[in-house]
Amino acid sequence: MAIVKVSSEDMKVVSSAILSLCEYFRELSAKNNRKITFYIHTYGCQLNESDSEKLHAMCLAMGLEYSKDEHADVVLFNTCAIRENAEDRLFGNLGAYKSEKISNRNMIIAVCGCMMKIEDNVSRIKNSFPYVDLVFDPQQLHKFPLLLLSSINRKKQLIEVGDVDYITDDSLVPPNRLRKFRALVPIMYGCNNFCTYCVVPNARGRERSREFQPIINEITTLAREGYKEVMLLGQNVNSYGKDAGFKETFPDLLRAISNIEGLSRVRFMTSHPKDLNREVIDIMATCKNIETHLHLPVQSGSDAILTRMNRHYNREQYLEIVRYFRSIVPNGSISTDIIVGFPGETEEDFQDTLSLVDEVKYDSAFTFQYSPRPGTEAAKYEDQIPHDVVTERFGRLLKLQNELTYESNQRLIGSLQEVLIEGESSTATNILTGRTRSNHLVNFTIPDSLKGEGEGEFDASSYEGKLCNVKITNARPYSVEGLMENLIDG
Ligand code: SAH
Ligand code: SF4
Ligand code: F3S
Repeated sequence: MAIVKVSSEDMKVVSSAILSLCEYFRELSAKNNRKITFYIHTYGCQLNESDSEKLHAMCLAMGLEYSKDEHADVVLFNTCAIRENAEDRLFGNLGAYKSEKISNRNMIIAVCGCMMKIEDNVSRIKNSFPYVDLVFDPQQLHKFPLLLLSSINRKKQLIEVGDVDYITDDSLVPPNRLRKFRALVPIMYGCNNFCTYCVVPNARGRERSREFQPIINEITTLAREGYKEVMLLGQNVNSYGKDAGFKETFPDLLRAISNIEGLSRVRFMTSHPKDLNREVIDIMATCKNIETHLHLPVQSGSDAILTRMNRHYNREQYLEIVRYFRSIVPNGSISTDIIVGFPGETEEDFQDTLSLVDEVKYDSAFTFQYSPRPGTEAAKYEDQIPHDVVTERFGRLLKLQNELTYESNQRLIGSLQEVLIEGESSTATNILTGRTRSNHLVNFTIPDSLKGEGEGEFDASSYEGKLCNVKITNARPYSVEGLMENLIDG
């Protein structure tokens, strides 16, 4: 696998493709007497969301207009390959565009993202979805305008899937941030860990850390623009800088970011237990703007399974980190990822997972049924667990974790919490939603006295990205409820 640094000269070629596309879409717009639009379907993790923010920016630069619904002239699918059901969703959705593509001759469909690094998926598009115009893998994202231009010119399906990992200076493809309350900032790409169940190292290539100063510059600008929260992204943020031999480590980066003025909250995802050291937890305990929430995927509570997963830590080492965190970050919260039914998992192994969950008392958890992924080691293991056994175990784990999540929510009743407002609740009007520093989800109301006088209709969007204090009055299974006491930043 080659690693290639993208130069500003390379990006000039991309910029000139953007100019040509601007011209092309302008003519198309004049001919049809309407705006030419784009829409992006995004699946998967925050890294994909961050990639979609870059694709969004590139589309705007080409003169396309964002479509609020999924019927558009340029439709992009930014895919995820982490589990099987992601594939079913993509192919179902692609099928639904067939008739639209026939009736709109100028329509362009492009598919990118992690699924495009799995050969079978690319072949399926070649064979069954000839109306897809362009396919490219996540490492080629910065070339999107160039690829789009070639696919338009050649009028034939273009597939650009390679084995090159590019290092791009993110400032050459600045994202169009889609949220006001949280800015996603990748600090590294790829993964070197090869957990035996996981498709990411294949899909995203080797670890490539971004340089220290450009990250600091980007976040300083974000803080000046008024962002209250940044989320640092990487598959294993604790190994930041190691691939490139930087002198700065992840704790150095966290400390530098915590000194940036105006920034209230810094989150990071994901920490790998094998690389998370006490220094990071010390920083969480002492630096005020580092959030007190640790996402620490455990995957299994059984040492035998952890070894077969190639995780490089054992149960006791994991618990030691948890105990340290709980001892010095008393109001902090811990969440995790757990896989149920990994090949060879016995009832005893599963009991180890249950007892670990009970011991840690996770505030929340993402629980997954093991899904064999093409090209991974574990998919070749012979002792795959029957589906009914997996679902039965999964049900038991979910029940336990739901109780723990509810308990964690109940502990907040009566407290005053600082909440970063994300917007209006999706399930109720006049209710705002946001998160505490410990990542608890809060739905809350604003007393009329705080709504401002004579402003007519309540406008939830004007609160997005603001900080406020909320008195917690009630706990629900997955969230807490409360009443706003005051806005913190006006
Ligand atoms: N880099 C992160 C997580 C990336 S994927 C980490 O190392 O923790 C997010 C989660 O998806 C993983 O933590 C794992 O729990 C789950 N996952 C990954 N591959 C899976 C598979 N084949 N089947 C089921 N769950 C999987
Ligand atoms: Fe996948 Fe493991 Fe890398 Fe996480 S650390 S992305 S689970 S290989
Ligand atoms: Fe999915 Fe790729 Fe993220 S496989 S979880 S979109 S890194």
